[in-house]
Amino acid sequence: MVLQGRKITVGITGGITAYKAAEIVSWLKASGAELQIAMTASACQLITPLTMKVLSGHPVATDIMDTSANWHAPHIDLADCELYLLLPATANIMAKAAHGIADEVVSASLLANHAPVFCAPAMNTYMYENPATQHNMAILQERGWQMIEPDSSGLSGSPIRKGQLADIDTIKQAIVGFFANASKLAGKKVIVSAGPTYEFIDSVSFIGTRGSGKMGYALAEAAAREGAEVVLVAGPVSLNDPPGITVKHVVSASEMQDAILDEYDDADIVIMSAAVADYRPAKVADHKLKKGPENQCLEVVLTPDILAGLGKQKGSRFLAGFAAETDNLEQYAQGKLKEKNLDLVLANNVLEDGAGFDVDTNIITAIYGDKIERFPKMSKKKAAKEIIDLIVKLLG
Ligand SMILES: Cc1cc2nc3c(=O)[nH]c(=O)nc-3n(C[C@H](O)[C@H](O)[C@H](O)COP(=O)(O)O)c2cc1C
Repeated sequence: MVLQGRKITVGITGGITAYKAAEIVSWLKASGAELQIAMTASACQLITPLTMKVLSGHPVATDIMDTSANWHAPHIDLADCELYLLLPATANIMAKAAHGIADEVVSASLLANHAPVFCAPAMNTYMYENPATQHNMAILQERGWQMIEPDSSGLSGSPIRKGQLADIDTIKQAIVGFFANASKLAGKKVIVSAGPTYEFIDSVSFIGTRGSGKMGYALAEAAAREGAEVVLVAGPVSLNDPPGITVKHVVSASEMQDAILDEYDDADIVIMSAAVADYRPAKVADHKLKKGPENQCLEVVLTPDILAGLGKQKGSRFLAGFAAETDNLEQYAQGKLKEKNLDLVLANNVLEDGAGFDVDTNIITAIYGDKIERFPKMSKKKAAKEIIDLIVKLLG
């Protein structure tokens, strides 16, 4: 789970152990990582880009000038990652990276990259021990690169010399360890609500809210990526259950409330992103109501205000709620923060282009204490990460 959804770029260079990148890439893919692969021309001589494409499930960048549908600008796209893994790293790529050379897709993406770099050098012993290589490695380590030290080899009686690619398990442990340490919500239980609720009129019809559930699902995944135990309480949505997350499917507001309260006792953080219907029919007919003049009026009553209820028994929990508004966004959101005893309100104007229902983007204003933080339009996945980072920050 620790690698689920993690964005990792793998740069493969022209070492004889390039074929070992295939095993690591397969394992990363099976562990749920989102992969981008870049290969130098020499690497492509030793293992085919097709192999890496099939194993990673993603097009492979081999040409820095490739601006086909797959890439906007490959070196910039590749640099958008949480970890850059260079495997195997030739003496040549380390020399280029140490000196800022960017003449092909791997070196250029390394120069554009600002994520941590894990570098697994592998080469002939004399190349490895050459002062030039040692000097370049020292420069890169000084800049924060993490070297996955090469293994040593030595026939009996001959001196042990370094240079061969580190053991595959060592490489895997380094990657898992990196993301496990980056788990900011380890040991925390997070409840996320998502999607709409449907309030039935009869066995066929309902009144309900709009909501795709995409924001809540992205939040649940972002919290899980930070190591939290996540319970996702989802209204009717057409999204697949995310792996590694407990999903409780509900339909109505009162079912959603019950499911959340069932989990509330030992919860540390609750994020209410569901679009809960405000009203439900006063009674539900047990048969389909006939269309006709006698059934033109629907008596409705208020549904439970789940968030206000949670706020009343908040304790030390962190409570965050979404406020989907169409006007006076910040004013309503500030009122909601106080009235419902929340720590954070995430407001969005659902009439704004690129925000709200059914779209993959959102424009969020975060309101906490007396602070207002406005985020630009971004994908719901990115917004989810920003929100989880903000919650981590507010938790101190
Ligand atoms: C069969 C073969 C195997 C090689 N293995 C390595 C190696 O393991 N490590 C290394 O640093 N260079 C190795 N080289 C040399 C590199 O491929 C060469 O320095 C090349 O310029 C590296 O380009 P790149 O860094 O852009 O991939 C090998 C070359 C050949 C022909």
